[in-house]
Amino acid sequence: MRKKIVVGNWKMNLLSAEAATRAAELAKLVGFEDSVEVGICPAFLSLAGVSLVLRESVIGVGSQDVFWKSSGAFTGFVSAEMVRDAGCRYAVIGHSERRGRFGKLEVEESTLPFFGETDETVNLKLKATLAAGLVPIVCVGESLAEREAGQTDAVIAAQIAGALDGVEDLSTLVIAYEPVWAIGTGKVCDSTEANRVCGFIRSQVPEAYRDHVRVQYGGSVNPGNAAELFSQPEIDGGLVGGASLKPEDFIQVINAAK
Ligand code: 13P
Repeated sequence: MRKKIVVGNWKMNLLSAEAATRAAELAKLVGFEDSVEVGICPAFLSLAGVSLVLRESVIGVGSQDVFWKSSGAFTGFVSAEMVRDAGCRYAVIGHSERRGRFGKLEVEESTLPFFGETDETVNLKLKATLAAGLVPIVCVGESLAEREAGQTDAVIAAQIAGALDGVEDLSTLVIAYEPVWAIGTGKVCDSTEANRVCGFIRSQVPEAYRDHVRVQYGGSVNPGNAAELFSQPEIDGGLVGGASLKPEDFIQVINAAK
């Protein structure tokens, strides 16, 4: 039986003091719940502070990205070792917003090449994450145009093959299915279809790890739709954006996974 895992991705929100306050509030609400694994991913600068606040909590902390080199002349980048040192248990890798694939476009289109994550860099980051002893949460998902063109499964298969290339030990791997069109748009994927795609994702994982790997759904998860999504047999929890920012909302999403 796979343990459900619900992780909040706070994206580029909350200054350090507010992040620490909300983490403490969430810790109180979660208590010593151990039927669901819970994590939050604050901005890099809040990782150490939030880790300190949560040191006696069951809630794990995660980064929203890592760089694949452990140290060196890489101005502005943060390594997997560094986030591990800041107290992290998880690292999100390959989020669509880092691939320049936005559910809601709020940057100039001409700047999209800046968000240059590729399957190759996701693969390098996955290897670095595992080497640092972190639990990787690898994000995959199709755009609206890809879905409408009937390419959903092919796009996801390619993203997974690229991410996992040459990676041997997948025993801690978590994959998040995040359809780009559902992120931050309020348009949640139908639970039957989300379940089908999560099952397809599982089928793309090498057989030895297939039953073990946890596949989350992400994209407009909220207290009203979480229970329906998490009751699907192939959906092992959620990666939650907006609804994870308020502890009183996020606890309802967590409880829906029990
Ligand atoms: P929303 O829950 O805000 O749609 O974001 C999902 C997401 O991108 C989590 O990584």
